[in-house]
Amino acid sequence: MVTTPSYTRTARWLHWAIAVLIVCMLAGGLLMRFLPEDNFSLTVLVYNWHKTIGILILVLSVVRLVWRLIHKPPVHDANIKGWEVLLSKAVHVFFYVFMIGMPLIGWAIISTSRFPSKLFNVLPLAKLPGLRNYTGDARDKLNDLLGDIHEVFAYMAIALIILHIVAAVKHHREDGVFLRRMLPNKKKVD
Ligand code: HEM
Ligand code: HEM
Repeated sequence: MVTTPSYTRTARWLHWAIAVLIVCMLAGGLLMRFLPEDNFSLTVLVYNWHKTIGILILVLSVVRLVWRLIHKPPVHDANIKGWEVLLSKAVHVFFYVFMIGMPLIGWAIISTSRFPSKLFNVLPLAKLPGLRNYTGDARDKLNDLLGDIHEVFAYMAIALIILHIVAAVKHHREDGVFLRRMLPNKKKVD
């Protein structure tokens, strides 16, 4: 029977829910540029759902961060090298910054946009204070810059998600239990 310690049930649910949403958002976000230019209502609908799921990720990620700060992660197996633990910690910190920072940058983009945004395609999404006062050229320039940051951040996350998956699968192949840290298990650290 496998007895590796694992993350708490809440941490595991949040990990997989946010992981699925982020992968869909990265793929969906990059595909949004191929929407047909002549179908304005479809474009508005897709963008509004992108924003809605992005805000949901923000809320879930804040909950996850708070949960993480008050619950210690399970200890690592002694076979895992010091530099690997350090690198994985750095990648995990990046993920937390990304999970919260990416939606906030998205929110900043729409706060400097000429177009209104609606959650669930219905509820108006308020602009961030401090950004709604920009007008004219300054607003357009800031909007472009924020769009570029949002895009670069997306490519960085894609690279690190691939690294994260490769590392998780590599360790799992070495010890046969590594992935169990994020999957249901007998012995939990609650
Ligand atoms: C968008 C995709 C993903 C994101 C943003 C993500 C993020 C994270 C974060 C932040 C942690 C650290 C948890 C903590 O200590 O608080 C973590 C751990 C983990 N993730 Fe992911 N993850 C993603 C996808 C995946 C996938 C696809 C796998 C499986 C192949 C996976 C397997 C794991 C495992 C096994 C751990 C525990 C690692 C350890 O304890 O050192 N993750 N993930
Ligand atoms: C973790 C959450 C999010 C992910 C992974 C994500 C991902 C992406 C990606 C990959 C793109 C395409 C890259 C680009 O053209 O800039 C994009 C574009 C965009 N996203 Fe997000 N996004 C997230 C959250 C949000 C939120 C919360 C909003 C607004 C409230 C938002 C608003 C936008 C807008 C307006 C664009 C088009 C930007 C432009 O054309 O310059 N995003 N997003």
